[in-house]
Amino acid sequence: MALRLRRLLVTGGAGFIGSAFVRQRLTADPEIQIIVLDKLTYAGSEENLAEVAGDPRLRFVQGDIADAKAVDALAAEVDAIVNFAAESHVDRSLLDAGAFVQTDVYGTYVLLEAARKFRHQRFMQVSTDEVYGEVKDGRSREDDPLRPRSPYAASKAGAEMLVGAYHVSYGLPILVTRGSNTYGPYQFPEKIIPLFITNALQDLALPIYGNGAAVRDYLYVDDHAAGIARVLWKGEPGQAYNLGTGSEVSGVQVADTVLELCGKPKSLKHYVKDRPGHDYRYALDTRRVLPLGWRPGVEFRRGMELTVAWFRTHQAWWQRRKSPEFWDYYRRNYHGLPANAVPQ
Ligand code: NAD
Ligand code: DAU
Repeated sequence: MALRLRRLLVTGGAGFIGSAFVRQRLTADPEIQIIVLDKLTYAGSEENLAEVAGDPRLRFVQGDIADAKAVDALAAEVDAIVNFAAESHVDRSLLDAGAFVQTDVYGTYVLLEAARKFRHQRFMQVSTDEVYGEVKDGRSREDDPLRPRSPYAASKAGAEMLVGAYHVSYGLPILVTRGSNTYGPYQFPEKIIPLFITNALQDLALPIYGNGAAVRDYLYVDDHAAGIARVLWKGEPGQAYNLGTGSEVSGVQVADTVLELCGKPKSLKHYVKDRPGHDYRYALDTRRVLPLGWRPGVEFRRGMELTVAWFRTHQAWWQRRKSPEFWDYYRRNYHGLPANAVPQ
């Protein structure tokens, strides 16, 4: 049977990467029909889909992926599910892991059951390089063991285990992507890059964990979204695919780049107590995905210029997110903050 994916249920499509995927698919594919199912947690907003609101090919439904009735009603109408929905911030998972288990693990189970019931042609699980755990040397390959170390990473790995089991047990045509640290427009200002940019624009301290030497592979959001689409349409069911750029950027380098691009002094850099269980390095081997025709197009410096420019011109968007609740979370999370760390 030929693969005909016209109707997608995109969960978490009002979040950062999910909304980029939705915008990109609607632009790239005139035939696509997308239903977004999103709970609209603190991290999601219909505002993130404003550029495509009113497009007759897009329907937005507010709801929870852990609600089987709501999921079934929508799953009956589509050919595939693309699961972005998750609690996604490591630091929040260290403060309270419950919502991570509920959404990232149980919610994925509910979606898998629906995909099975409605005989979907594909189930795409958007996963993360964090499932491999810290990588001291070399690069993670897709068949490496999963050794997650934070509650967030463990929840994502748990979800992956279920996804893999539904392939083996029921023949569900699943795919998994393991993307690296993603950045760009519409990212909630809790992750390092949007936090540091918005703090710099507010003349607030940039809190660097530990000695700032931990490295990440930063992937521009449109490249990540394009990689997920490529794997969805061209990937081999049952397989996982790493999506990364191969670069390694430290926390200090992120801070220096942000301060330079924002025209702010280095004195805003501030070292705070390290994240518990901090993974000092992730690194991906991406040889499996390359034959599918995907490679990242935006290198770190260019991506940072685009991202800083977007945050400069979308002050109202991020200021709404840096709410009193956000600063409550901030005070609970960070230890050793200087006086210029929070707005007066
Ligand atoms: P995000 O936090 O910006 O968005 C998550 C979205 O999911 C939000 O719109 C939220 O409202 C929604 N959501 C949360 N719980 C839900 C529920 N129970 N039911 C329905 N919707 C719910 O996250 P993101 O950064 O866009 O990440 C998207 C996916 O990509 C996640 O699965 C994450 O694990 C994965 N990922 C993220 C990165 C990254 O660096 N941001 C990298 C690799 C993989
Ligand atoms: O690797 C993919 C993962 O990247 C995704 O699966 C997660 O959803 C996403 O949140 C992200 O996780 P990280 O923990 O790597 O991202 P974060 O932006 O929180 O941290 C990136 C690095 O920056 C990490 O070494 C910790 C450091 N950091 C982070 C924050 C928020 C700081 O030094 N200070 C900070 O305030």
